[in-house]
Amino acid sequence: MSDILCIYYSRTGNTKKAMEEIAAALDAELVELRDGADRSGWKGWLRCGLDAVRKNTRPTDPVETSRPLDAYRLVILGTPVWAGRESAVMRAFLQAHGAELKNAAYVLTRSSGAQYQEVFRQMDRDVPAGHRAAVSLRSGDVGWAFWQEEFLRQVRAFLAEG
Ligand SMILES: Cc1cc2nc3c(=O)[nH]c(=O)nc-3n(C[C@H](O)[C@H](O)[C@H](O)COP(=O)(O)O)c2cc1C
Repeated sequence: MSDILCIYYSRTGNTKKAMEEIAAALDAELVELRDGADRSGWKGWLRCGLDAVRKNTRPTDPVETSRPLDAYRLVILGTPVWAGRESAVMRAFLQAHGAELKNAAYVLTRSSGAQYQEVFRQMDRDVPAGHRAAVSLRSGDVGWAFWQEEFLRQVRAFLAEG
């Protein structure tokens, strides 16, 4: 049984793709987050933007994991950037469960050239343990595979610490 959990929210599939690849490379458990809100179409897009800016959250649906969150050696959290912030869905999850994570790592996906390093710090506010590795991936960018591999290197270095 893997002691790494990959948990993500994805509205249009970019974060899902990244997290599927990362989970496969690390032989990790993979779980998708949902919050029950209709985030489809242009109305959904608007809702996501407003939720991110206003820091609105609604409880995420319960996630089924093979162990309790605090029993994983590392939990990798994947989220799109919304209006320069983490997605409202990831925010809701971290507000409810961030304190249960022993070690965390972050995967952001985004469409613009900005890296949004500040989002890592935003997420740390709800994760007292802080993060061991982090990456910001731009969808469609030629650097995607390179930075994803660099993230895996960081994670493996952490795991090798013993
Ligand atoms: C409401 C909303 C706001 C967004 N704001 C940003 C942004 O500020 N900067 C950025 O680079 N991309 C932004 N994006 C683009 C997404 O972060 C990007 O397409 C991401 O890869 C989508 O991930 P997903 O396919 O897993 O949902 C935004 C997308 C949405 C829906």
